[in-house]
Amino acid sequence: MTEKDEIKSKDLPFTAIILAAGKGTRMNSSLPKVLHPVAGKPMISRVIACCKKAGVNDIRVVVGHGAGLVKNVLETEGVSFFEQKQQLGTADAVRSAQPETIEGNIIILNGDHPLIEARDIEGFIREFKEQKLDIGLVSTVLKEPGDFGRVVRSGGELYAIVEAKDASAEAKKIKEVNTGIYLTRAAILNLLLPDIKNQNLKKEYYLTDIISLGISERKKVKTITGAKNVSMGVNNQIELAKATKIVFKSHMKKLMESGVLIIDPRNTYIEETVEVAPGTVIYPGSYIKGHTKIGKFCMIEPNAFIVDTMIEDSVQIRAGSYLESSIIRTKCSVGPYARVRPDSELLEEVHIGNFVEVKKSKLGKHTKAAHLAYIGDADVGANTNIGCGTIFVNYLPNKTKHKTKVGDNCFIGSDVQLIAPIEIGAGATIGAGSVITKNVPANALAVTRSPQVIKENYKPKS
Ligand code: UD1
Ligand code: CA
Repeated sequence: MTEKDEIKSKDLPFTAIILAAGKGTRMNSSLPKVLHPVAGKPMISRVIACCKKAGVNDIRVVVGHGAGLVKNVLETEGVSFFEQKQQLGTADAVRSAQPETIEGNIIILNGDHPLIEARDIEGFIREFKEQKLDIGLVSTVLKEPGDFGRVVRSGGELYAIVEAKDASAEAKKIKEVNTGIYLTRAAILNLLLPDIKNQNLKKEYYLTDIISLGISERKKVKTITGAKNVSMGVNNQIELAKATKIVFKSHMKKLMESGVLIIDPRNTYIEETVEVAPGTVIYPGSYIKGHTKIGKFCMIEPNAFIVDTMIEDSVQIRAGSYLESSIIRTKCSVGPYARVRPDSELLEEVHIGNFVEVKKSKLGKHTKAAHLAYIGDADVGANTNIGCGTIFVNYLPNKTKHKTKVGDNCFIGSDVQLIAPIEIGAGATIGAGSVITKNVPANALAVTRSPQVIKENYKPKS
């Protein structure tokens, strides 16, 4: 290779090959392993996201077990899929990705190492280029190397990788392991891949053999050191839970550093997509997911479940409340034990109390429903009081749904049923226990109640 060629290859872009065809037998799950979520996000999506963030945009995913499902889930992620029909080993998986159609550099990653970060990949690429390597193998040293392939050295120099299953007792003691990440040039990969044989205990084509093959071809093959997170593979449910915990922990650390008060981070669960502003207090047992955004000085009491919800400043989410895909404006108070279902919006200083369910409804400023109510498909004005036990009857026997409109400054007494579609004008009062079937004009009183009967000295007939 001339110096000019070398400079050229140094500047070539990287294609990622992510191996994800394996069954994941040890997961004991019908879901393909790489789709198992780590802190709410499929593990392979994490690997894909890191590649992209590190500037590797041509991504080939090798699918096999559960290929249809994997493709479905990853459909919008802008990757290409290559099917490995039979899982004959990691080298065979790489072959399935048609490396002969790749020019330039290649980084090979496992789909089951979800804790890798973009900066890890950036570092590997930098080192591969700076050292002008033919093959870079990312290794790391582990206290308990377990089932990882061992990095065997001879006179300090990289010599081979030996799978734990095939390793001698002596080799098993080695603590430097193969993380399953390789950087190389397409030309070199395509030169060595055909020479990989399946002469091992599992009768599989091991990609790890590329190391000794490269060395015997006098290529420049070196290790690149990876951090521990890079090596953290997920092969069973216990490792999956560990990975999730690590993601939660590191996100909560960032939140606490920025001034969020998390009373017991070991028992709080916040996905890394969630934003929380300083001064907010989060009690134990809360699980906060997705694209949730929480403002300053909020109080999230124990066991709240919050997903994809926008919560502004100084909001109280009281114990045991469940919120989904909604907007909660400043100074609202929700719960304890309230449920806010998708497409709801509570404007400033709304209060919904215990056992109140709100669905696809907008509640105006200062409106209150303090206890035991169902508010569905409604547009409620400001300063309205919704009494205890009130039901917005939105669902009819013919299975159609209808809307209710309630104006500003209304007083809806306790145990009222508003049969939709219906409109209650501003300032109206609805007597307790009424079943309202006709629109009520502004400032009117509506009451539907049978007169009370008194029978003195009443004795039931025997
Ligand atoms: C592999 C390495 C091992 C390394 C470890 C890091 C080999 C032979 N061994 O072992 O040295 O320490 O990763 O985690 O490479 N896959 C396919 N098709 C196949 C087989 C596997 O796509 O035919 C995929 C799997 O879905 C997985 C990845 O390749 O994402 C690794 O396979 P796995 O069986 O988990 O390999 P390990 O035994 O962990
Ligand atoms: Ca693995």
